[in-house]
Amino acid sequence: MSKSRVVVAIDGPAGAGKSTVSKLLAQELNYLLLDTGALYRCVGLAATRAGVEAEPAKVAEVAQQLAANSSIEFRRNEDGSQSVWLDGEDVSVAIRTPENSQAASRVSAIPEVRAALMDLQRSVGDKGGVVVEGRDIGTVVFPQAPAKFFLTASVNTRSARRHKELLARGDTTSLEEVAADVKERDRRDSTRPVAPLKQADDAVLVDSTEQTIDEVVQLMAEAVRRIEGE
Ligand code: DC
Repeated sequence: MSKSRVVVAIDGPAGAGKSTVSKLLAQELNYLLLDTGALYRCVGLAATRAGVEAEPAKVAEVAQQLAANSSIEFRRNEDGSQSVWLDGEDVSVAIRTPENSQAASRVSAIPEVRAALMDLQRSVGDKGGVVVEGRDIGTVVFPQAPAKFFLTASVNTRSARRHKELLARGDTTSLEEVAADVKERDRRDSTRPVAPLKQADDAVLVDSTEQTIDEVVQLMAEAVRRIEGE
């Protein structure tokens, strides 16, 4: 049976467990991992630092420059996790603060920002053998991906997970604030005119509310292996 390494698209709302699932699935399949949310987060951070976050045209320029200069890099840590570097600085923690999560969500609604990041994403995925996680991967970036999943969970579950993650990082944002944040990002990400968060028609819906991360990863890995062998 011939085995081809494919593009695996994983989309879904904030806090559905996408990052953890994508990381473990990439390890299980020995695939690369492309965290596209980190790209939008880097644009948000760079625009905030440049003081232009409120000016869409300038945010677009920031995104174009970051793409043209290959300013964003993913480096693999010894424990298998990835760190995110922006112009030679490790920004793995800085891009994940609640403030920068909102900034990333806002900049991601700017069409020129999405366009600037498109080629970057496609050039990584073109060779196959990559798990790409985001919001519009199965619908816009890789509509031809042979393996597509839409991972979701209830708002309560997603908020509780995100709250736990923040606590582990020493962030004391309350559960209520996290839930409000999750709902606000859901609303913005799924109602924006360009590439809104939406399940692709041919994506497999996976609800992680009642399933463990390992169960979800195994289910996806089996589906990808079936597709690889086709
Ligand atoms: O997956 P994340 O939470 O790290 O993503 C950060 C923000 O970037 C999120 O609010 C939506 C946006 N995003 C997007 O619009 N398209 C993607 N492919 C990935 C993320």
